[in-house]
Amino acid sequence: MSKKLLIFLMAIGVALIFVATGLQAGTKVADTFKMESKEYKSHKKGIVEFTHKKHNIDYKISCGECHHDKDNKPLDVKMGDDVQRCVECHDKIKKRKEDKKNIMVHQNAIHGNCISCHKDVNKKAGDPKGRKGPAPASCTKCHPKTKK
Ligand code: HEC
Ligand code: HEC
Ligand code: HEC
Ligand code: HEC
Repeated sequence: MSKKLLIFLMAIGVALIFVATGLQAGTKVADTFKMESKEYKSHKKGIVEFTHKKHNIDYKISCGECHHDKDNKPLDVKMGDDVQRCVECHDKIKKRKEDKKNIMVHQNAIHGNCISCHKDVNKKAGDPKGRKGPAPASCTKCHPKTKK
């Protein structure tokens, strides 16, 4: 085999690896990641680390508890399937006081999902108001304090 042909074949090999991993990129999700949606020009609050895999596996929460379709119907998906980001639909960024009640505002959807479940978890663990307990339900328990 000529040296040129060998280099050519190796280049094709590398290109194929890129294609293969590229195809997976859309469906992959890290076990833990920072909730730092770029759609916010700047974050007012400290960035929350979300233990995606732990929620699913250790806390035994099904995908459909958090992911739903355009009609708010729980999604029956599995790892590797395509899932839209919350912000693709909940794409309004809070600007005014009135936005507090609009579920299509991103932070309201996120808070609605995360905090309501956490409160239930804490109520079951013994706190009648659900504010205190194993699952973070107050601002600073989730958003770390930022140095400012
Ligand atoms: C406790 C809530 C919760 C559970 C349970 C959960 N997810 Fe997620 N998932 C999220 C959140 C929040 C994000 C981040 C979405 C964003 O960036 O807007 C996410 C992101 C993803 C992404 C990446 C989307 C992207 O394009 O960046 C995929 C894929 C995904 N989840 C699939 C699943 C699957 C499959 C399951 C079940 C095996 C599951 N999730 C269980 C809340 C959850
Ligand atoms: C494909 C579009 C779409 C995506 C993606 C999406 N949502 Fe929604 N979501 C909706 C619609 C539509 C509603 C219903 C709004 C209404 O009732 O007016 C809704 C409702 C909600 C509600 C209110 C729940 C209720 O039943 O009262 C919460 C909380 C919520 N979404 C959180 C999330 C979170 C968290 C994510 C990402 C993990 C997400 N949504 C992804 C479209 C979407
Ligand atoms: C359906 C229920 C449910 C939903 C939805 C949910 N969580 Fe949780 N979360 C839990 C439970 C259960 C624990 C563990 C409590 C314990 O330690 O016993 C927990 C713990 C946590 C913790 C602390 C421990 C850890 O694993 O990091 C953080 C931070 C957290 N959740 C963030 C979030 C965020 C952010 C969202 C929304 C994107 C969310 N959770 C949505 C049930 C939920
Ligand atoms: C269960 C965890 C959790 C709790 C509790 C919580 N948040 Fe959040 N909050 C989040 C996540 C996750 C986001 C989405 C950030 C992103 O995707 O960029 C968010 C977004 C926000 C945003 C918009 C982004 C920014 O930084 O400007 C604000 C403002 C905010 N939260 C304020 C609060 C306040 C005030 C409280 C208490 C009343 C609170 N949060 C409680 C998890 C939490």
